[in-house]
This record gives sequence, C-alpha cells and structure tokens, in this order.
Amino acid sequence: MPIVTPSHCSPKVSTTIKEIRAAARAARRSGKRVGLVPTMGALHQGHLSLVRAANQQCDVVIVSIFVNPLQFGPQEDLSNYPRTFDRDRGLLEKEGIDLIFAPSAAEMYPGGAGTLVEVVGLSERLDGRSRPGHFRGVTTVVSKLFHIVEPDKAFFGQKDAAQVAIIKRMVCDLDMPVEIVVCPIVRESDGLALSSRNTYLDSGQRKQALVLSRALYRVEELFRQGERRVPVLEATGQQVFREEPPVRLDYLSLVDPNSLEPVTEAVPGTLVAVAAYVGGTRLIDNVTLGKSSSG
Ligand code: PAJ
Repeated sequence: MPIVTPSHCSPKVSTTIKEIRAAARAARRSGKRVGLVPTMGALHQGHLSLVRAANQQCDVVIVSIFVNPLQFGPQEDLSNYPRTFDRDRGLLEKEGIDLIFAPSAAEMYPGGAGTLVEVVGLSERLDGRSRPGHFRGVTTVVSKLFHIVEPDKAFFGQKDAAQVAIIKRMVCDLDMPVEIVVCPIVRESDGLALSSRNTYLDSGQRKQALVLSRALYRVEELFRQGERRVPVLEATGQQVFREEPPVRLDYLSLVDPNSLEPVTEAVPGTLVAVAAYVGGTRLIDNVTLGKSSSG
C-alpha cells in the first residue's frame, strides 16, 4: 500500500479587509462553519493549540496575525515585539490552515483609531490597572476582527484570563453573534506558561520566571488542603516571590473569573491571577482553583 501523506496547500495570506471578508462570506454562504483565531504572531504551541481546536470544530479556519499598536502603552514593547511571519506561515501550513489575515496597521486603522470599544469596569482590573488602555485596545481590535470575518466561533487562550472575561462580556453586551471558545493554558514541562514574550528572557531570567507558576501551584495546593481565606492564600503566593527577589511582582490576586473583582472567600472556580516583571519583561499567568493546574 502506498503511503499517502496529506498534502496541504499553503495557506492563503490576505492583507486586506475586503479580501478576507469576501473569503469568509463565501465560506459561510456555502454552509461552512468559520472559525477565527486572533493572534499577534510569533506563534508557539499555545497558539497552535487554539488552531487545532478551531480545526476540529470548524470547516474553515482563519488565523489573524496583527501586532495591534492600540493595545501597547507608550513605554511598552510594540517596536521590539517578535515578528516571525515566514515561520508562522510555515507552522500554520503544517496545521492545514486555510487563510491567514495579516493586515498592516494602516489597513486596520486608516484614519487612526477614532472609535473605541471599551468594557467599562472590567478593563481597569488586573492588567488593566498597570496597563491603562490595554484592554480597550484589545476589545477594539477584536470587535473589528469579528465584524470583518463574522466567525461562527472565535478561539482564545485561558492564559489571558482577564482578556477572556472582557471579550465574553463585550460579546454579550454588544450582542455579537459569535461563540467564544476558551482553550487551556499550554505550559513548558517545568511549568512556565508559553508566551511570545518568553523569547526576551535570557537563561537566568528563564529560571527566575518559574516563580510565577511556582507561586500559583503553592496557592492551589493550600486551597486543596482546605484553606479558603483569601488573605492567607494571597500572602502565601506573594511570599514565593520574596524567594526570587530579582522578579518584581505586580499583583497576585484572587478574583471572580467573570467580573475580575476580588473575592472575599476562595471557592472552586476562583481565578488566581499573577503578573510580574522578570528583568524588563512582563509575564502573566493564572490558575483556576479546584481544577487541574494546566488550565
Ligand atoms: P497573543 O498574545 O498572540 O495570543 C493569541 C492567543 O493565544 C490568545 O487568545 C492567548 O490567550 C493565546 N495564548 C497565548 N499563550 C498561550 C498559552 N500558553 N496557552 C494557551 N493559549 C495561549 O492575546 C493576544 O495575542 C491579543 O491580545 C489578541 C487577542 C490577538 C488581540 O490583539
């Protein structure tokens, strides 16, 4: 028997709104379920887990690659953000992806960003406090992508738990006809959550960065042992950061996963979210109490 290997065509790359909208509409008109995976590129296995989920649940999958200037603060890493388009395209080809949407900033914001979408309240919590305007940039670009592609389903990672809560709220408040699918956090074998920003870390910082998952696991373990008091759980996680002094903790907080508000008692489903600076690199991670630590 001859061995037949699947031959995927290269994914088609569209750089214009007009072209990707026409392709998505044509697919939907022929009865196909369209899935969208929004990314900023520099793809890793975390992104690819979303792509695989999309491939399983949809007939046509569009991956957007756009480093969205609107979600970066003036002092942040917009100009240094890793851009690896050819490698990304190769990875997506192996996954059998149909279409890549890779617009320029001028295509997405021809007259600047005159209209903004903001989920008031939620956008100021967790990362929103340290990164003013960040989530407004995210919800603005994601709502544009939803209008352009009109996907049946859109895929996001639990790695960015606040982003998930905010996007779900936006979809609900603005009656957007899209189903949000959330995929678990993909980690390295030693616990570090995969992130495009991990490429900024040197080998010493790479080891220091493990403090984020270590702190989360310590909180999770204490919860498993029956501790429910929020101040005790938070202090335990924060204490782990004192063991790794070069890493600067921004926050380690127990919050409701939907409202992102601090909780008064830890319960199964409570989100433990952490953000910290390893050198100049800001990393985030989280666990959901009462679940396995992978997601
Ligand atoms: P980006 O950081 O490229 O991430 C794209 C998607 O991949 C997000 O939904 C993110 O949660 C998911 N992801 C990243 N690391 C992951 C991991 N280790 N495990 C599982 N999923 C992971 O998030 C953004 O881009 C942008 O804000 C975007 C939504 C594209 C809007 O610009």
